[in-house]
Amino acid sequence: MATERQYSPIDRLLLQADTAMRTLLPFSGQPSRPSPALVKPDAALDETESRHIAGLMRINHTGEVCAQALYQGQALTAKLPAVRNAMEHSAEEEVDHLAWCEQRIRQLGSRPSLLNPLFYGMSFGMGAAAGLISDKVSLGFVAATEHQVCKHLDEHLQELPETDQKSRAILEQMRIDEAEHAESALDAGGLRFPAPVKLGMSLLAKVMTKTTYRV
Ligand SMILES: [Fe+2]
Ligand SMILES: [Fe+2]
Repeated sequence: MATERQYSPIDRLLLQADTAMRTLLPFSGQPSRPSPALVKPDAALDETESRHIAGLMRINHTGEVCAQALYQGQALTAKLPAVRNAMEHSAEEEVDHLAWCEQRIRQLGSRPSLLNPLFYGMSFGMGAAAGLISDKVSLGFVAATEHQVCKHLDEHLQELPETDQKSRAILEQMRIDEAEHAESALDAGGLRFPAPVKLGMSLLAKVMTKTTYRV
């Protein structure tokens, strides 16, 4: 029999803090699926290429930090347990993405963005605020965000050198997962956001991508 576990506000706070730490501390996310990059051959990349790919993967990693925070913020304020459960599967897959991107960044001799705590805080706040308005709005927000991520992934797949099959395999699997996340948020009753809201979100995403490519 499926029962909804009852957590006290303190339990919830501790769970949130635990997830935040696991998202932000290096090497702490445990993926449930092995990285798609594992079975792909290594490419001979020169320094400029490695630095460029690391920059792209750093953007994607921060995107995953934001996704994790968004799902956590939303779970905190979602009114219906059904909404929380529907999003749990997506949130779990974001942990995989986070770990895969971090592994790849390290392989390329770089590190995740120093701005991640800042973006975690902002996304958590936005997810929680959207959840406070209504479940429909917060699910719509998730769907719009995931669509945005798909667009970025498409751009990065274009930009990656053909030879870098490892990064490519990671982004391709993420692209499949994110499209599913968007669909499940809409299926769960998410609002389809109007164009001006989407434009605002893509401007915010621009700020994120411009800063984390380098920092
Ligand atoms: Fe993701
Ligand atoms: Fe996602």
